Amino acid sequence: MSPFHLTRTLPEDATDAALRADVLAGLTGMPKTLPPKWFYDARGSELFERITDLDEYYPTRAEREILVGRAGEIAAATGARTLVELGSGSSEKTRYLLDALTELRCYVPVDVSESALTQAGRALVAQRPGLDVHALIADFTEGLTLPRTAGPRLVAFLGGTVGNLLPAERAAFLSSVRELLSPGDALLLGTDLVKDERVLVRAYDDAAGVTAAFNKNVLSVINRELDADFDPAAFDHVALWNAEREWIEMRLRARAAQTVKVQGLDLAVDFAAGEELRTEVSAKFRKDGVRAELSAAGLDLTHWWTDGEGRFALSLSMVRRA
Ligand code: SAH
Ligand code: AVI
Repeated sequence: MSPFHLTRTLPEDATDAALRADVLAGLTGMPKTLPPKWFYDARGSELFERITDLDEYYPTRAEREILVGRAGEIAAATGARTLVELGSGSSEKTRYLLDALTELRCYVPVDVSESALTQAGRALVAQRPGLDVHALIADFTEGLTLPRTAGPRLVAFLGGTVGNLLPAERAAFLSSVRELLSPGDALLLGTDLVKDERVLVRAYDDAAGVTAAFNKNVLSVINRELDADFDPAAFDHVALWNAEREWIEMRLRARAAQTVKVQGLDLAVDFAAGEELRTEVSAKFRKDGVRAELSAAGLDLTHWWTDGEGRFALSLSMVRRA
């Protein structure tokens, strides 16, 4: 049996239907919004990888530092035989876990980005011939069915991607993750932490404009998939800190009044000059909040590690015993 399996859990037309529903609701709502999962076509995934190398974007380096220092403890605490990774992207930081988890038999990367999964999966199989890699093209907010593999399971959700979910979506998501876990399984969760506003805004508005290109890429995705005529140059990238909600918001601001046609939806969308479309929130966390959200989902926080500068945290939590 080949050690690399790629499974699409949803038919392609389900992805089309979800995009159509999200774009219709998001562009006809007030204010206009789009869910961030549509950033990640092949170009969006590549732009995200470039973001992780930027000086301004500290979360990837901070989380890597924690993984380098703590992967051994994570392995000892979990004894995982299966590692499931949600939103795995390039799986670049995952190698520290793969190296440390000495009992590991199976790696299950889960992502909406087929290009990211294929590239990462093929590279992993070449580097680790003994590892069974079972990649899933799936939306982790839609209720996952995991392959039947050896326990204990460790579910990793790295990068702070949990912060891209709105609070109600996060609560539903964490409960669905809890449902995937059996006693003895664990969740490893990466969360970016509240910090100086200037550091945060710089991380989402870099000097080279890579994050701006990433943000505008969602317009190109809609142009291609739904036959729309967005002009990305007619929008400005905006990153701002919402102090009340403790999240960064990325928006696209219309430079002038314009009407965008989305032929695939038979829709014309009017933008006023200066009108903003929210494309992402990226919540920043505090330890008590993370503990409370995990607890509400039936998970007990057992470990909390931060990088040396206290910018980012990795937490380990276990299913609460009845
Ligand atoms: N874990 C990696 C990548 C983070 S980027 C890291 O820490 O660097 C976020 C990843 O989550 C992208 O690869 C994106 O395609 C994926 N993603 C975003 N929303 C998703 C969803 N709803 N379901 C599955 N994958 C999703
Ligand atoms: C994937 N996610 C955690 C990133 C973040 O920081 O919220 C996505 C991103 N958006 C802009 N830059 C990076």
